[in-house]
Amino acid sequence: MCGIFGYTGKRDDAGSVVIDGLKNLEYRGYDSWGVACREEKGILVAKDIGKISAVESREFGHTCCLALAHTRWATHGGVTPANAHPHLSRDRTIAVAHNGIIENHEALRKELMQKGYVFLSQTDSEVIPHCIEEEMCAGYPFAEAVRRACLRFHGRYAILAMHEPTGMLVGARTGSPLIVGVGDDGYYVASDIPAFLEHTRTVQYIDDGETVETDGASIVFRDIATGQERQKREVRITWTVEQAQKGEFPHFMLKEIMDQKESIARAVNQDEDAIRRVAEAIRSAKGTFLVGCGTAHKACMAAEYFFSVVSEHHVNVCSAGEFKLYHHFLAPESLLIVVSQSGETADVLEAMNIAKSKGSKVLAIVNVEGSSISRAADYTLLINAGPERAVASTKGLTGQMSVLLLIAYALKHALHEGKTLLLETGALINDMLNPRYVDRISAIASRIKSHEDLYIIGKSWHYPMALESAIKIQEVSYVHAEGFAGGELKHGPIALIEQGTPCIALVGNDEVTADIINNATELKARGALVIGIAPERHAIFDEWLKTPDAAAAQPIVSIIPMQILAYELAVQRGKDPDMPRNLAKSVTVK
Ligand code: M6R
Repeated sequence: MCGIFGYTGKRDDAGSVVIDGLKNLEYRGYDSWGVACREEKGILVAKDIGKISAVESREFGHTCCLALAHTRWATHGGVTPANAHPHLSRDRTIAVAHNGIIENHEALRKELMQKGYVFLSQTDSEVIPHCIEEEMCAGYPFAEAVRRACLRFHGRYAILAMHEPTGMLVGARTGSPLIVGVGDDGYYVASDIPAFLEHTRTVQYIDDGETVETDGASIVFRDIATGQERQKREVRITWTVEQAQKGEFPHFMLKEIMDQKESIARAVNQDEDAIRRVAEAIRSAKGTFLVGCGTAHKACMAAEYFFSVVSEHHVNVCSAGEFKLYHHFLAPESLLIVVSQSGETADVLEAMNIAKSKGSKVLAIVNVEGSSISRAADYTLLINAGPERAVASTKGLTGQMSVLLLIAYALKHALHEGKTLLLETGALINDMLNPRYVDRISAIASRIKSHEDLYIIGKSWHYPMALESAIKIQEVSYVHAEGFAGGELKHGPIALIEQGTPCIALVGNDEVTADIINNATELKARGALVIGIAPERHAIFDEWLKTPDAAAAQPIVSIIPMQILAYELAVQRGKDPDMPRNLAKSVTVK
């Protein structure tokens, strides 16, 4: 959570560079923003509550070559201008932007206050510039003072600090992302690549436990613990500027839903030997565990059915945040498969640490190349969905499910059968995503948009898709949506159904079709408005959204109209689907 972006180099418009770049990271947090520019008169800071997208970048830093900026997702202290970053040292020569949590901030604050430091905010972050200043007062140069200050901090964080007298920009990373963009005109340091994509596609990754220091002309990486220099290679990234922009679409969420016309094929385009090796690792593992959070967890749940139905192989699925006590089941021969779009989710990283502490191997299925999760894993499969900017994960999910289904087929020694099915599914999705289809969903949204409760049912692999549909609708439209396994209704939830309550049934052409139609009939008998998402019309449906018949890839198809419905409900209820309240794209705190 929180976005950080700093620049130093030959350009003299550093203030607008960092503000414009941060607009591309606003998905990381958007309750407040701030910028610090190194001007002739010293460090100038501007900060406020609200979205950085509304800020006119030309107003800032037109004569400065060093600046840093921040978008905040509040953890410690309310959403106020004073709590917005950057925070300054007492002598106003050091400005700091921070992502993550300084867990021992209360003790540090107390210690610093006893020494006369005054705090202007309620944040944990404000201890950082004061600790750096204290180290400098003890005689250490700026970069070394940042490193020494980091030794005093507990927790997972990324820090970016600038020093007015020397013009140095210094970053530090322990658990939250920070990446260097290497440009012809200087160095860009950001929480994520889209911040500097229009300036450079050459990156250097800062690893956990490292600092980076630059004066704009050269760069040095160091180990935080020892101060030893670390060598880094430059990596060319494949994402393009166009992929990271919304183009003609009104929102990133809609663009990313539409990207699924092509992204399934990209996900499936994997090295076949690598997929077979993964399948072999699952076959020989003493226990395979699949974990993820939120939408990625629902991909894992769908995969449990893929492995059961396609390859008759048992896997264990768990939300990453609940994995802690599974360590009793782990051994060096166990395999943990972690699934994450961003590759930065804190609970997933913690699950990986648990598995590693037991000597188990970790496979990561991620979208973001070079992310913390992919770098910490023993092996990574990329889903190649391209940048996902909307908070609601859409193409990330279908890419994850596609790779997991492909692995299930490889486990059955039928990789090509799986690949053909998924490529055909991609083509079916391409046909399905036409303007008439979106209009039809829009009409259904308009019929149900005034209801505050909405239920979705599914069976088999459509059960996790019912849960996922509910997440999508909740997070962007704020409608109270809940997903259930169809068979669970009569064990409690059916009591919620009243005359006209909208209920959506996810239906396929499979061995549970008759069961889920029965469940929908039970809802209808209690007065529900039944909306069927299905390849065929059933008499029980009041509304029917046709989906193509995609065999084992059916859940990948069925979730797409639900994504559009969530989007339409948000827009028709006047909400911004790209920036839902209280949420951020990368959940880098536990
Ligand atoms: O980046 P990750 O896939 O690890 O993120 C996991 C969840 O935070 C994420 O899927 C979240 O649930 C989405 N906002 C759902 O749309």
